[in-house]
Amino acid sequence: MTLSGWFVERLSLDKFRTKYLGKPFPVHSTFFLGEIALFCFGVLVATGLYLALFYEPSSQTITAGGPLPAAYASALAIDSHPFGALMRRMHHWAAHLMIASILLHLLRVYFTASYRRPREVNWVLGLMLLGATIAASFAGYLLPYDQFSVTATAIGYGIARSVPWIGSTLADFLFGGPFPSPGTVPRFFAYHVIWAPLALSALVGLHLLVVLKQKHTELRAAAARDDVAEGKWIHGIPLWPEQAALMGVLMLVLLAAIAALAAILPVHPSAYYGPPQPITPEVKPDWYLLWVYGALRLIPGDLSFRFLGATIGSEAIGAMLVPGVLAAVIALVPWLDRGPSSLHYAESPTESPGRLGLGLAGLTLFLALSLAGFGSELGLSVPVLWVIAVLAPLAVGWGTRALAQRSLERPMAGAATRP
Ligand code: HEM
Repeated sequence: MTLSGWFVERLSLDKFRTKYLGKPFPVHSTFFLGEIALFCFGVLVATGLYLALFYEPSSQTITAGGPLPAAYASALAIDSHPFGALMRRMHHWAAHLMIASILLHLLRVYFTASYRRPREVNWVLGLMLLGATIAASFAGYLLPYDQFSVTATAIGYGIARSVPWIGSTLADFLFGGPFPSPGTVPRFFAYHVIWAPLALSALVGLHLLVVLKQKHTELRAAAARDDVAEGKWIHGIPLWPEQAALMGVLMLVLLAAIAALAAILPVHPSAYYGPPQPITPEVKPDWYLLWVYGALRLIPGDLSFRFLGATIGSEAIGAMLVPGVLAAVIALVPWLDRGPSSLHYAESPTESPGRLGLGLAGLTLFLALSLAGFGSELGLSVPVLWVIAVLAPLAVGWGTRALAQRSLERPMAGAATRP
């Protein structure tokens, strides 16, 4: 008996092989977006492990080369270690690629209605994954402890304080005391290297288990071919070895792309920003949170109302209420969609003009709010940005809905005239 045969027999791996390794995986580029997010997470863990060897999670002042905050000095030192700058840049680009691929994966799931029953659980788990990834990025933002990252985190602290009723207690708890305090960096380091990776690993595990259990949605065109009648509603290549080989190639290509980005493009220049100073520069969040910044700009600074004894100010409205309502609507999509339930087939995006129009309107709203984040640089006044934020989503949503409706009706009209 061979060694592998011995293991297969002792651990009953043949059952495992038939049950899981033969799972068919649809071969379509958009079905790889979730995997790209997963591989980026792997790159983040690997590069993060290297960076953690040299990073000093403390804002205490050290005199060597200073006086400088220890965290800031260690971030500068990492850039001069062998591979340090490369690892730091790879970590940065993997984080951006991970968020971009999660967002594209979400759009694929939305526009093909792959969230419908029985996949509501995975839709909600996916949104939790997105939230956890963004929270992990935010925690990482503070770690270089330069003037830019401290100012950006101070904005987050202000937003946390604006939460009605419990704001100041919550903010001080999350930030390890009134920001900036000596407790903040160690706490954010713990969020970034322990809490977030653990939460992400658990959520990814659950998400993939659900995919394995429920199987993928099937591309309708492939399913239409033949064996649906036999009850085999899923087409694709088996997970092992074909799909695994494809995943291996994808992983190597992604690693090469991240390394190339890291080699060519510099990241957050901590040395340029310098250590934290009393004067705060104007900071904007990264692209994926720019829409929250834009929403804050659109809400008049003096707007506030009283609710159950608490004052809800403009910060809470722009950075809590608006994102909270949008997130709740997105989470409820599977229940708001009245389309057929128990759907095993990924729909074409144009098959449901309403869903297409609403999705593109939502996307345009996020883009318009992000544009508002650059309002002053673009010379656009707040009233003009308001008009864009209201009219652009309506125009895009209504226009695409009408176009998709017309294209749906056209073949039907043709079919009616056919002999
Ligand atoms: C770290 C983040 C995420 C990872 C690593 C991940 C990973 C994956 C993978 C590998 C698949 C199977 C391949 C595929 O269908 O693309 C999948 C399927 C799925 N994901 Fe995600 N995902 C993430 C975030 C999300 C988000 C944000 C959503 C939506 C809000 C979501 C909803 C779904 C659903 C509904 C499926 C089943 C789709 C189908 O059967 O066609 N995921 N995910």
